[in-house]
Amino acid sequence: MKKILDLIAEQMRAAFEDCGYAADYGKVTLSNRPDLCEYQCNGAMAAAKAYHKKPIDIANDVAAALKNRAAGNTMAASVEAVMPGFINLKLSGEYLAAYLDGMRSEDKLGVEECGGGATVIVDYGGANVAKPLHVGHLRTAIIGECIKRMGNYLGYRMVGDVHLGDWGLQMGLIIEELRDRKPELPYFHYEDKRSADGTCAEDFPEDDSEEAPFTISELEEIYPAASAKAKEDESFKARAQEATFRLQNGYPPYRAIWRHIMNVSLADLKKNYGSLNVTFDLWKGESDAQPYIPGLIEDLTKRGLAYESEGALVVDIARPDDPKELPPCIIRKSDGAALYATSDLGTILERERDYAPSEYIYITDKRQELHFIQVFRVAKKAGYVKPETKMTHMMCGTMNGKDGKPFKTRAGGVMRLENLIREIDEAVYDRIMENRTMDEEEAGEASRIIGLAALKYGDLSNQVSKDYVFDVDRFTSFEGNTGPYILYTIVRIKSILSKYEQSVAGASLAMKYEQGQAACGSEAGGKMRPAQSAEEKALMLKLSAYNDVVETAFAEKAPHRLCQFIYELSDAFGSFYNTTMILKEEDEEKKAGYIRLIRLVKDVLESCIDLLGFEAPERM
Ligand code: ARG
Repeated sequence: MKKILDLIAEQMRAAFEDCGYAADYGKVTLSNRPDLCEYQCNGAMAAAKAYHKKPIDIANDVAAALKNRAAGNTMAASVEAVMPGFINLKLSGEYLAAYLDGMRSEDKLGVEECGGGATVIVDYGGANVAKPLHVGHLRTAIIGECIKRMGNYLGYRMVGDVHLGDWGLQMGLIIEELRDRKPELPYFHYEDKRSADGTCAEDFPEDDSEEAPFTISELEEIYPAASAKAKEDESFKARAQEATFRLQNGYPPYRAIWRHIMNVSLADLKKNYGSLNVTFDLWKGESDAQPYIPGLIEDLTKRGLAYESEGALVVDIARPDDPKELPPCIIRKSDGAALYATSDLGTILERERDYAPSEYIYITDKRQELHFIQVFRVAKKAGYVKPETKMTHMMCGTMNGKDGKPFKTRAGGVMRLENLIREIDEAVYDRIMENRTMDEEEAGEASRIIGLAALKYGDLSNQVSKDYVFDVDRFTSFEGNTGPYILYTIVRIKSILSKYEQSVAGASLAMKYEQGQAACGSEAGGKMRPAQSAEEKALMLKLSAYNDVVETAFAEKAPHRLCQFIYELSDAFGSFYNTTMILKEEDEEKKAGYIRLIRLVKDVLESCIDLLGFEAPERM
């Protein structure tokens, strides 16, 4: 469906043309004085300069022309020229009602699929295998999931990849810690027979056992212990580096351990992401990029793009117009070790081979800004991605504690995600139990659903790039700009709808057939009624912006716009609800009209929260 602003602008442009002015002046925006009008056009002011006339004269001409147009006249309830030259417009109730009827009959409530099936890779989550998922990974997961959902809804083919950190030093640390703890394991008895370059020449028996030599809880304990040890013990650190190097060079016993680490850790990660309602199409990682790296390095070197500098292999990426000079991208360190940037370039080669996407979106902490500038520039410079391929790095601000510093546990440690989720669920649970409207089991179930909404909305309602303060009390409040408030609105509408349905079903069969048919059958089948009150009109106007908002939120990669919209929509519903007797309305036709309207509000809200990645409970 066309956006309502575009429909209005079409008429406005035509009216400018009718008066002999260029159509381009007919731009229309939402009014910034909602007390005066609903939409406004400021084009007369700009046209005044070009045509050497007074703005108000132009505005008067255009307003009159708009009223003279048949389509303009049905669309507008009033058009007014006001000093110095604004054209103010109010929509007619009939027009707005018909627009909402259009939304009701459309598949996606009037949102048009502008994606055309274009493939977009979204790289988000980015958990590091064997390290616990912590709050640092929270934002990228929540935001990425939302971006992916919006894109799919708009008809893009979004491919979400978790891009695990599964190839770094943590693997060597775990291997060496495991050796110290369980030296009897077979993996450690092939040492001496390895060849000098660190790769293994002899056969390690193909280890296809599903049984890992550790559980997830052991693994969770092994990594921090090893990491702490490496900080104190230089020789342990050196061993871990050596083990990492050998793993990366394909030493079979270590590959076998790695496979076990991956299996155990992946199961746990999937569970954790699952509890966040975050899913991925691909569970790839840095390790998958490794086969591409030798060829990549050879290619960059042969073409003279990469060169030796202080023992390392680098590619220049600086451009003369950079505000400050950017360091070259290091492709290989002097010790030959694999690098984060090299992995990302290898991954791009694989993604080009498998998907040739028209856009890449990476979502990480803002501290990775330079890394992605370097990777994107090398990828373009070497022609690994087409010049027109969009490469976007969405940089997330930090989630801070109330002290304004990155969020920590009470003890000052890194907060694990599960604990954070538990904290928020418990806070919601307590709020629900205060009112005692549910038994413990239902409250427990509801608090998980509401808790997730509180957490995700608390995050998504902030601009991606801005830091924000994680505030359990505020996030879980049922009032204000919060997830629970939105859910509460939905639940409230659902309850009105079910009461209405019960009352309709309760009416006698005979009544239903004679007069009541209007009451029951017409609710879905009938048409939206023009607004009768200012509150109703405001609610309808808000609803009509839905398709525009979704498109803009995706184009600007700004989930907070969607949040802002549902907050305003919920508020508009609240005002309507407070000033309108819905179920007590005696005129059945009118009542059915209200029901149609609030059902559309519910449908739009539900579709928005689905895009944001959470859902509403039955009751709260
Ligand atoms: N594992 C990385 C981290 O924890 C994030 C990965 C982001 N994605 C990428 N393609 N580099 O920082």
